[in-house]
Amino acid sequence: MVNIVLTDRDGAKSTIEGKAGVSLMEAIRDAGIDQLLALCGGCCSCATCHVFVDQEFAAELPAVSEDESDLLDSSEHRAQASRLACQLVLTEGMNGLRVRIAPED
Ligand code: FES
Repeated sequence: MVNIVLTDRDGAKSTIEGKAGVSLMEAIRDAGIDQLLALCGGCCSCATCHVFVDQEFAAELPAVSEDESDLLDSSEHRAQASRLACQLVLTEGMNGLRVRIAPED
């Protein structure tokens, strides 16, 4: 299991667990956190799964695709740490990753 330290939009911190191979978006939703709408179901077309990811783990994360980057551009909250949670598949190397749910657009 991969532990993720999650901060929600209210600033509440929790540690959630996800299985390697599932997306970060799914792991957050499976943990009962309902702040990620994930309207498109994870097919990289809605940007409602926007999160900020600890840059310490940047090397463990896949590169931002062009589609992901275009969608993130539609958010007024885009920052260097921005990612779409549906595009990050959990790996053991992500254990301890700190993630913050981005403000709603
Ligand atoms: S769930 Fe729609 S882009 Fe991630």
